[in-house]
Amino acid sequence: MVRVKHHRIAIILVFIATLSVVHSTRAQAPPAGPAVKLSPGDPEAGKALFQQNCVNCHGLDATGEEGPNLHGVPQALGDAAVSNIIRRGIPGTGMPSSYILTEQDAANIVAWLRSLDSAPQPAALGDAKKGEAVYASAGCAACHMIDGTGGDIGPELSRIGSERGAANLKARLIDPGANLPKPAGGFTGGGGFTEYLMFRAVEKDGHVTEGIRVGEDSFSIVLRDAQGNLHGFSKPDLAKLEKEPGKSIMPSFKDTLSSAQMDDLIAYLSTLKGAK
Ligand code: HEC
Ligand code: HEC
Repeated sequence: MVRVKHHRIAIILVFIATLSVVHSTRAQAPPAGPAVKLSPGDPEAGKALFQQNCVNCHGLDATGEEGPNLHGVPQALGDAAVSNIIRRGIPGTGMPSSYILTEQDAANIVAWLRSLDSAPQPAALGDAKKGEAVYASAGCAACHMIDGTGGDIGPELSRIGSERGAANLKARLIDPGANLPKPAGGFTGGGGFTEYLMFRAVEKDGHVTEGIRVGEDSFSIVLRDAQGNLHGFSKPDLAKLEKEPGKSIMPSFKDTLSSAQMDDLIAYLSTLKGAK
């Protein structure tokens, strides 16, 4: 009995070390590449290129989905910077580089983005100030960090407004498990796309633990529960170990927030753009 306990503590310690490594590699800085000299862009050609290459992540109207709203972005960052992002991606994030798009293609896309209305988009029209209060009262900070404050069970949200569109944020609040965040750096990067996948461990005495996997090898697994507690298991000691796709440790806020509160909260999240 005591031996098993020690074994578990050892497993946990090893993976706490792993955890801190994983967390410290989640940094994200856009490349400070040299400014590209652009030819004047053609918005019509840019629109077509956008539809082929960008809509899956940024939405048909560029108001954002899995990727952020792009209205007003060339105005804020400058054409050369945006063109750079289009061709090189943003390393360490979900924004991929493109080997297909030429400098002229990128200039065309930028010209189309410039032609869009740069005013705030309808889905983010809630009241961000009220949304900040909703964030505090709904207990989000127990699991999420914003500018160094909060828990680290879920992803940091300091830059979430630069990472996702409003519609996507709403979908995540309503049905968190349906669309787990993809890892920074894509499928080949660290982290693994199962970073937030839920696991269910059933011990031989029937005791059940659900949590996010924070470490695993052939013989052991460590799960982190919704309160942030770590549970280490020796696999041969488990009666069952299952993945639970579609589930999240984050609760759904579909029934606990009114639709006005939800809009306010999304407006608040959309303002979180980190340090630029
Ligand atoms: C696989 C999904 C995906 C595709 C495809 C994609 N993007 Fe992105 N994009 C993202 C994500 C996610 C971010 C946010 C990255 C971050 O900062 O964390 C992003 C960020 C950006 C940014 C920076 C926005 C800002 O405010 O800093 C620009 C500009 C951009 N994308 C343009 C494009 C264009 C144009 C295309 C098509 C050529 C494209 N993206 C294709 C996912 C994608
Ligand atoms: C019990 C912990 C927990 C609580 C409470 C919680 N979350 Fe989460 N949240 C997570 C985890 C874990 C994920 C990643 C898995 C997922 O998306 O379901 C996540 C994902 C998210 C995402 C998607 C992040 C991304 O990169 O796309 C957003 C946005 C978010 N949470 C916002 C909130 C807000 C706002 C609240 C409060 C209303 C909240 N969460 C409450 C744990 C939590």
